[in-house]
Amino acid sequence: MDAGSEIIRLRNLCTAYEGERIPAIRNIDLSVSSGDFVCVVGPNGSGKTTLLETVNGILRFTSGLGEAFGLDITSNGNAIRRRVGYVIQNFEIDPFSPFLCKNVVMSGRAGKIGLLRFPDSRDWESVRRSMDLVGMSSYWGRPVGKLSGGEFQKILLARAMAQEPDIFLLDEPFANLDLRARSEVERLLSRIHADGSTLLMVSHEVNSIPRPCTHIVVMDGGRIISQGPKDEIIQSGIIGEILNMRRTRG
Ligand SMILES: Nc1ncnc2c1ncn2[C@@H]1O[C@H](COP(=O)(O)OP(=O)(O)O)[C@@H](O)[C@H]1O
Ligand SMILES: [Mg+2]
Repeated sequence: MDAGSEIIRLRNLCTAYEGERIPAIRNIDLSVSSGDFVCVVGPNGSGKTTLLETVNGILRFTSGLGEAFGLDITSNGNAIRRRVGYVIQNFEIDPFSPFLCKNVVMSGRAGKIGLLRFPDSRDWESVRRSMDLVGMSSYWGRPVGKLSGGEFQKILLARAMAQEPDIFLLDEPFANLDLRARSEVERLLSRIHADGSTLLMVSHEVNSIPRPCTHIVVMDGGRIISQGPKDEIIQSGIIGEILNMRRTRG
């Protein structure tokens, strides 16, 4: 992708869950361009995961315009998902999960491999490289069920990297991590960004924006209430207002 070209374009977009009258996200205007590192912050329930799943075409938007790579999201879901590295929120892993780290990372290449062939040496090389980059190569043959939260988060990142996507979507990449794991993951995101990748991440932690982030989007109640270049948003004081709002709400 050429630096600066628009990857995601949402205009007055709404997504309502089936049977719900009020959309979970409303009147969303958002652009993400190649090379951006966009951080969406907002309290729990503000619509962040819904936004990511709409961008990915997992959820169907109900009105407005939604495009990724210049394609309408609704009618090009599969093509879009092949180019999007989606790092799902790291929930508790089943401690008895039999899946090995190398296979979980390889599953990121499913779209590239397709149904008609098996992984070849190029695929395994890409898995090896991704696990090296996240510092997890010694976990190659270990079951994911035995990993700590931070280790599993790095495997999820390696899985997305093995896909060689044109944009990363990250859902709460710092949730459930201790301070050390958190700074490791932050360093990895910086590195992915420095290597020329585009990132759209969401987080409920308003007061800890990753350093290399270029743009901040603030969501509340399913709407974007503010967005702009990182420094502008931080100087505007809106982040402090949200923290105060939350304190007085209890
Ligand atoms: N499958 C669903 N069906 C109906 N409502 C949902 C569903 N998933 C989420 N919601 C609602 O949509 C809103 C936004 O949720 P979500 O996008 O998960 O927020 P966040 O990721 O910011 O915590 C919330 O009010 C939530 O209860
Ligand atoms: Mg969420």
